[in-house]
Amino acid sequence: LKNGLALTPPMGWLHWERFMCETDCKTNPWRCVSEQLFMQMADMMVFQGWLDAGYQYLCIDDCWLAPERDAQNKLQADPIRFPGGIKKLADYIHARGLRLGIYQDVGKKTCAGFPGSLDYYELDAQTFAEWGVDLLKFDGCYYGNLQQLEDGYRRMSMALNRTGRKIVFSCEWPLYARTLTKVNYSEVAEYCNSWRNFGDVADSWSSVKSILDLTSAVQDSLVPVAGPGAWNDPDMIVIGNFGLSMDQQITQMALWCIMAAPLLMSNDLREISAESKALLQNKEVIAINQDLLGAQGYKILKVFNFELWEKPLNAGSLAVSITNRMEEGGPRRFDLSRTMLWKGTACYEECYVTQLLPTRKEYGYLNTTAILPLWVNPTGTVLLRLD
Ligand code: GLA
Repeated sequence: LKNGLALTPPMGWLHWERFMCETDCKTNPWRCVSEQLFMQMADMMVFQGWLDAGYQYLCIDDCWLAPERDAQNKLQADPIRFPGGIKKLADYIHARGLRLGIYQDVGKKTCAGFPGSLDYYELDAQTFAEWGVDLLKFDGCYYGNLQQLEDGYRRMSMALNRTGRKIVFSCEWPLYARTLTKVNYSEVAEYCNSWRNFGDVADSWSSVKSILDLTSAVQDSLVPVAGPGAWNDPDMIVIGNFGLSMDQQITQMALWCIMAAPLLMSNDLREISAESKALLQNKEVIAINQDLLGAQGYKILKVFNFELWEKPLNAGSLAVSITNRMEEGGPRRFDLSRTMLWKGTACYEECYVTQLLPTRKEYGYLNTTAILPLWVNPTGTVLLRLD
């Protein structure tokens, strides 16, 4: 979507995977979806270096709404969990240099059953703009039929544009449409800044693996449409939670950067390990994701149990990831040669190789014939940068 926004993949925090639809603030005050939770996350984002690292969008997902619209049909936040209302929360967030994301749905109801935007696209877009919303995640539950779904996304995109406020439009259009039709990705990219293609990420290695497999299986249709203002969204980063080992967290971070994915973490910034935090805030790794060329990376090779992905970077550089998909044994050796990369044409004459993950290491210049032996942990990834 050419609205001047999301020229690099949006970065921030989104409550869904970690906090889901916890609405019981009586018995679970620390973790219920409430203005308190977002104010605390906002403070953490600023004081714990997240904003400095680039994580700017603080995003509310489903379950923020009151069960009904108000007397004028306007959306309203749940009055008990968001007593100050969204406008006040937006002010709090903006005062800290952050941006606010919110959630709605193209259909009659949101996925969790709150009032959806159907019949109210114009009014809801206006309301979000008045409140100071900077990003809208637009879900597709209860969409009706294919035409209503597609029309709804087009109409909401135009309604947001008419408000005059700069609002990133994050869609789930292809996820719902792909079971019914062949998705026209260039059209989706015209109306959305990012879009989900597959089901929800869970806090597990099997989920992260399946998203990588699903994405690479159809990369020929996904990769060409990605670029500044238009990104494929493989869903949230779950690093810092319960389900991934450190090697698997490294794999998620490396591959989400290679895929030029929006980096929307869903974790609890109030209780995250130093290791996970350092991984998420690694500036050189983030730079791969935020590279100005805006090219989405793709899988180039699967040999034995190794998977190789590459992502072209600005000024002829290249990012390369090697993942060990074996789930038994110990570290295994992969011999990287330049001929495998970029159809054999990586770097002019020689490349300077820096390993960014799992630890930083400089390998120096790699000439055309040299082979670089790399040891990769089971389910882990080595991420390299070639300049
Ligand atoms: C859908 C979306 C999720 C989340 C939930 C909320 O499942 O794909 O990302 O927004 O709805 O109900």
